[in-house]
Amino acid sequence: MASPRKSCIQREDRSPASVNVDGLSKTYGQQEVLRDVSFKVEPGEIFVIMGPSGSGKSVLLRHIAGLEVPTRGALDINGLSPTEPETRNQFALALVFQSGALLNSLSVYNNLSLYPHEHQLCSKKEIHDRVMRALQILSIEHAAKKMPAELSGGMRKRVAIARALVMEPQLMLYDEPTSELDPIMAATIAEIIATLREEYAVTSIVVSHDRDLSLTIADRVALMQNGQIHSIAPPAEYRQATDPLITEFLNPQINLQNPRFKTLEATS
Ligand SMILES: Nc1ncnc2c1ncn2[C@@H]1O[C@H](COP(=O)(O)OP(=O)(O)O)[C@@H](O)[C@H]1O
Ligand SMILES: [Mg+2]
Repeated sequence: MASPRKSCIQREDRSPASVNVDGLSKTYGQQEVLRDVSFKVEPGEIFVIMGPSGSGKSVLLRHIAGLEVPTRGALDINGLSPTEPETRNQFALALVFQSGALLNSLSVYNNLSLYPHEHQLCSKKEIHDRVMRALQILSIEHAAKKMPAELSGGMRKRVAIARALVMEPQLMLYDEPTSELDPIMAATIAEIIATLREEYAVTSIVVSHDRDLSLTIADRVALMQNGQIHSIAPPAEYRQATDPLITEFLNPQINLQNPRFKTLEATS
């Protein structure tokens, strides 16, 4: 049996990742769901991808996570393909799934420690320290012994983020991190994503429908439409935009007065 590594890759040895997407296209069968998508994300940036349902946001994120192979074009993280073993072995990136994807039979603590334990990435003490630090940063230490079924929607999202943080990645990818959350919990998650930039020196790419989150925490926002990038600009430019596609998408009427929040509040 391999002997456990003495020491994890330390946060101090990490720098935030840069991401380069170049002419990326993806076709499933006859359907071209990504069409010539190109952009760069700078180290430490919070880059938000918005767009209507079905516009290709999740497919794009899955490519950046190395879970899909492009039909055409290329992308790299710090110059390396996300599917390269080196990218994966170094835990350069972590994907926070929309569902949270927690293991229901394990406590919160064990959900966080499972992967580094199973792969013997660090000493037990280091794994414990990392788990406790991640729980503390997300203010969920009190939930360490709880089972996923006992958690609210907002808590599940926080646990999913904490689990990704245990690997201390250079790049965090979030798919709809505030979906199904009430507005206050959505704001809390937005604060967490922004805070992690300082706490963990991480680059963040966030797919989100959440206009408030996007325009508040993003350095730049990409708006997708039919598998293409419609525009990339800082939030201030979106607020002043007169382009009908942008103004329609950012229509203020979809804000807190929308009665859907009342039903969501009860379940999250
Ligand atoms: N594995 C797949 N096979 C075939 N079609 C897919 C697959 N994944 C996504 N699609 C299609 O790609 C389009 C974009 O999907 P997606 O990226 O999930 O949209 P969204 O912007 O809502 O995240 C949709 O039409 C979807 O049905
Ligand atoms: Mg999606």
